[in-house]
Amino acid sequence: MSPADDSRVTLVADNPGPVPLAGVGGTGLTIAGIRAAETGRADRLFADPLAGAFVAAAGAPPRQATGRQAAALRLWVVARTVFLDELVLAACADGARQVALLGAGFDTRAFRLPWPPGVRCFELDTPDVLDAKEQVLAAQRAVPGCQRITVPGSLLDDWPAALRSAGLRPDQPTAWVAEGLLVYLSPDDVDELLDRVTSLSVPGSRLGLTFRSRAPADHTSPAVALRRSAAPDDPAGWLAGHGWAARLADPRDVLRAHGRAVPADSAPGRQQRALLISAALDPALPRSDPARSRRRPASTAPRPHLATTDGGVATMAADRPLAALLSQALVAFTIEFDNESEHQIQHRTTSGPAAGSRGPWLVSETMWANFMQFVPPGGVPLRDVAALADITNLNGLERWGYVTVGPDPADDRARPPRRDWVVHPTVAGQRAQHIWRPLTAGIERRWRDRFGAGQMTELTRALRAVADQTGLVLPPYLPVVGVYPSDHRSWLTAGQQASGTPDTSLPALLSRVLLAFAIDAERESPLTMVVGAGALRVLSTDPVPVAGLPPRAGLSREAMSRALGLLDRHGYAVVEPDPAASRRKVARLTARGQRAQDDHHRTVGAVEQRWRDRFGEALVDGLAGALRGLFAETGGQPRIAAGLVPYPGGWRAHPPYLSQTEALLANPAAALPYYPMVSHRGGFPDGS
Ligand SMILES: C[S@@+](CC[C@H](N)C(=O)[O-])C[C@H]1O[C@@H](n2cnc3c(N)ncnc32)[C@H](O)[C@@H]1O
Repeated sequence: MSPADDSRVTLVADNPGPVPLAGVGGTGLTIAGIRAAETGRADRLFADPLAGAFVAAAGAPPRQATGRQAAALRLWVVARTVFLDELVLAACADGARQVALLGAGFDTRAFRLPWPPGVRCFELDTPDVLDAKEQVLAAQRAVPGCQRITVPGSLLDDWPAALRSAGLRPDQPTAWVAEGLLVYLSPDDVDELLDRVTSLSVPGSRLGLTFRSRAPADHTSPAVALRRSAAPDDPAGWLAGHGWAARLADPRDVLRAHGRAVPADSAPGRQQRALLISAALDPALPRSDPARSRRRPASTAPRPHLATTDGGVATMAADRPLAALLSQALVAFTIEFDNESEHQIQHRTTSGPAAGSRGPWLVSETMWANFMQFVPPGGVPLRDVAALADITNLNGLERWGYVTVGPDPADDRARPPRRDWVVHPTVAGQRAQHIWRPLTAGIERRWRDRFGAGQMTELTRALRAVADQTGLVLPPYLPVVGVYPSDHRSWLTAGQQASGTPDTSLPALLSRVLLAFAIDAERESPLTMVVGAGALRVLSTDPVPVAGLPPRAGLSREAMSRALGLLDRHGYAVVEPDPAASRRKVARLTARGQRAQDDHHRTVGAVEQRWRDRFGEALVDGLAGALRGLFAETGGQPRIAAGLVPYPGGWRAHPPYLSQTEALLANPAAALPYYPMVSHRGGFPDGS
C-alpha cells in the first residue's frame, strides 16, 4: 500500500471518547476513506455511505496520500471491493447463507449489499476495531440487511471455535472473504488460516482473497513495516493444495470490465502485482497436498521474534477455546482460594516470606478438594481413600505435616498390611481443614457478588448439565499428575472413591468438565492436554527464549521445564543454547512439533464441536458464554482480576513470582493457563 495507509489512527464516535486504533487495526480506516471517496463520484462503482461516517469519526483523518502510489491504492481498493461484492452475492445466489469476513475492518457489506433472506454475515476482527466500528454504526443507527454477527478476537488464535460458538455451521456452505488481510499475517499464519477455512468449509463454499505479489521497496513506511507476507509464486497451486479451485483476476481487468478507464501509468502493481482471487472448494481436489509447503506464501520481511509478534498468546481474549476458558476459571478460583488459605493457615514455604516459620508446608486447593476433605478427625482406612491418595500425593501430605499414615491401634495383628492402615489428620492438618472447609463456599459468595447472581447461576447450571451428561464419575479436582502419560483410569477410580460425598461446588464442576474434555481430547492425541495446551501452544518454529515461556503459558518454571524436556525427548521441540546470549536457552518446534501443534488445535476444536453435537449447541455455547463473562471488564479492569490480588505477605506478592502476578492482574485472559499443570503441591504457578 502507500503512505496513505497510516499505522496509527484515532476514531472518535459521537459521544464516547477517542478510540485508539494502533498498528494494523488502523489500516481499515484508510480503506474506508477510499470507499467514501468512491461513493462521492458520479461514476461510482459502488456506494458505501457508512464509509464516510467512519472517516468523519476519525479524530485524525487518515493522511490522504497523493501521487502514483496513492492512485494505485485507490484503484486497487475499488477493484477488490467490486470483485468481492460480486463473489459473495454469487455464492449466495448459489445457495450459501453464511458469509464470513476475516479481518472485516470497516467493511459494510452487511449493510449495503442486497442480501437474499436468511443470510448471516460474520465479521471477525480484533476487539478494538470492532468496538470502534460499533460506536459509529450505533451513532448512525445503521441497520444491516442480513443477520450480522461480530466475532472479536485474533485470527492467530482459535478463531474457528469462536466462529462456531457464534453460530457458523461448518456443514453448510460459506462465502469467505479475506480482503486486505493476508499481507498482515506471516506466511505460516496465512497457510494456517487457509487450513482452518478449509476445515470449516463444505462444497458450495467460496473464498475471496486479495494478495500482493511481493513487498514494496519502502520498508521505512510504518504501513509497509506492518506487512509480513506476499502471494505465493503459484497462488492457484497453493490453493489447489488445500482443496480449492482458484481463478485469478487482475484488478485492472475488473475495473475495465465495469467501464472504468485505467490509465496505464497508475495501474496497480507495476512493481508489485496485485491479485484478486476467487476460489471454490473443489470436492475433486485433495484437501491436503504434501507438496504444498513449497507453494506457501512468501515472507516480505525477516520474521519478527515470537515474543513481539505473537502478543497473540498474550492478548487474545475473546476467542479462547472452551477448554482454555474452563482452565482459566478454575485456576482463577484456585488462586483466590490459595491466597486466602495461605493468609489464614500457619504454614511454611521453601523460600519467601514464610520460609523458616512454623507449621506444615503450604499446599494448594487440590490437596483439600481431592484428599483432606475426606479425612475425618478419627481417621479413614487407607483403602477407602487409596485412589484419592494416588492422585494427590499422600507421601507429600504426610511429609508436609498434614496427615499420619499407620496401622490402626485397634488392629491387634502384629504387622497389618498397609491397605488396612489408617490415615489420620495431624493437629496442624485439622487446623487447616477447619480453615479450608468454609473457603470454597466463601469464594463462591464473592464470585456471586463480583459477577452477579444471574451469571453464576447460569454458569453452574451449564456446568452441572454438561458434567451430568458426560456420564463420568470424576474426582472433585484435577489430580496431581506427571506430565506424561496421564492415566484416566486413576481419575475414574478416584472419582468413584470421592463420589460418596457429591461435590457440586464451582471448582469441582469446573474440574470435572475440564477433565472430561481432557479424556476426550487425549484419546485422540499422543500428547496430554497439559503438554499440548500448556507448552506446545506457546512454541513456534522460530526460537524463543526458554525463560519467557512460563509466563506465556501461565505455567511455573518447573512445570514448563518438565513439559519442554518431554517435547525435546520425543522430537517435538529442540532446546538449545541461545546464539545471541551466553547461558540463555531457546526453544523451537521441530517439523514434528509443528504438526503436533496443528493437531492439538484441531483436536481441541473437534472435541468442542462434538460436545456441541452431543450436549447441544445452546448448552455448550451458554457455558462458553458464561465463562467468557467472567473476563468482562468494569472500569477497564477485568473483574476476575480482583480475586487474584495476593496478600502483601503472600508468595505471589514477592520475587521471583511477582512479575507473573503482575501479568496475571494486567491481563488474566492471557496470563492464565490454557490447561493447568497440577504438580507437586498443586499451586499455580507451583511456587511456595
Ligand atoms: C486493511 S484492513 C482491511 C479491512 C477490510 N477487510 C476491508 O477491506 O475494508 C485489515 C484488517 O485486518 C485486521 N487484522 C489484521 N490482522 C489481524 C488478526 N491477526 N486478527 C484479526 N484481525 C486482523 C485489522 O484489524 C484490519 O481491520
